[in-house]
Amino acid sequence: MKRPLAQVVSTGRAIPAHVMTNHDFAAIGLETSHDWIVERTGIVERHIARDGETTCSLGSEASRIAMQRAGVHAGDVDAILLSTATPDRLLPATAVDIQAELGATRAAAFDLSAACSGWLYGLTVAEGMIASGSAETILVIASEKMSSIVDWTDRATCVLFGDGAGATVLKRSRHHKGILSSFMRSDGTLAELLYRPHGGATVPITEAVLMDRSHFVKMAGREVFKHAVRSMAEACDRALDAARLTGKDIDLLIPHQANVRIIEATAKHAGISMDKVYVNVDRYGNTSSASIPISLDEAFETGRIGEGATVLMVAFGAGFTWASTIVRF
Ligand code: COA
Repeated sequence: MKRPLAQVVSTGRAIPAHVMTNHDFAAIGLETSHDWIVERTGIVERHIARDGETTCSLGSEASRIAMQRAGVHAGDVDAILLSTATPDRLLPATAVDIQAELGATRAAAFDLSAACSGWLYGLTVAEGMIASGSAETILVIASEKMSSIVDWTDRATCVLFGDGAGATVLKRSRHHKGILSSFMRSDGTLAELLYRPHGGATVPITEAVLMDRSHFVKMAGREVFKHAVRSMAEACDRALDAARLTGKDIDLLIPHQANVRIIEATAKHAGISMDKVYVNVDRYGNTSSASIPISLDEAFETGRIGEGATVLMVAFGAGFTWASTIVRF
């Protein structure tokens, strides 16, 4: 096992106050049911951004909490990495809006686009920056306003997602705590199984695009499901092997929260019993890359992660991308 180079020293989260339950879809004329959604996904409700809540505002709020817990001032931050699939504007990066909002005048800031795996990708990038000596204190944030990119007339996707943000402060490892292993992969040949067909540089937003709603998320749900189960299993194996650990050594598994059936399959493959798996997909739906840092923050708050705990985090998302990280706290 390698010596840890960087550690997660604090966490924070920001969740929009507005709750939308499965029953609320009837009010927008969607043909679905609470029972169908719960049975297929485990989702009961999700939080939806309202009134000026943005990817920047949620990310900034989560960051302030994480910074305060770490005793880090805005001027101490060397870099801000924001994972998001829903930047507030396409140019510049939303990370610089957060930089301005926090007053982090010494910080580099950039967005990272790896869909639901983005926060784990961000941890690995930040670890490398710390190891190289180019940064000492890094905010790794995931903030997602999925409600702005789903098609609210498409029942196969809009019921699945929610909004929220999680943030963490990363510093150099001390006392052998920190990142024990990580793994990242991608397969762009499968990009069109989960994507936004138009609205980018190739086919910019036009009246025709707006009319056919092709700027919204499209997903081949069943195919995505199969790949998610397979890839998250592989990611668990690779991170465990690299850290010379097995599922038995893991105190808590925090999987990306997309679907409780994918979570159960992942835990089973890794040999981790469900009482050691963090699940909140019922309350938040799929908040894309924010799902793991939100879960991590809740797990600390509720005492699910104690001193010395070994936590395996694993994600899968559009791209496809998939990733895993094991951290000793
Ligand atoms: N309410 C009611 N019926 C719905 C529905 C909804 N919200 N969404 C889809 N259906 C219907 C479909 O129209 C289909 O009807 P049909 O058989 O008459 O055509 C039927 O339910 C089955 O659809 P299918 O897509 O095969 O269902 P499924 O069991 O695969 O479950 C998902 C659908 C989306 C829940 C599931 O595929 C899934 O979770 N996939 C992974 C999604 C994911 O995690 N994405 C993010 C990865 S980061």
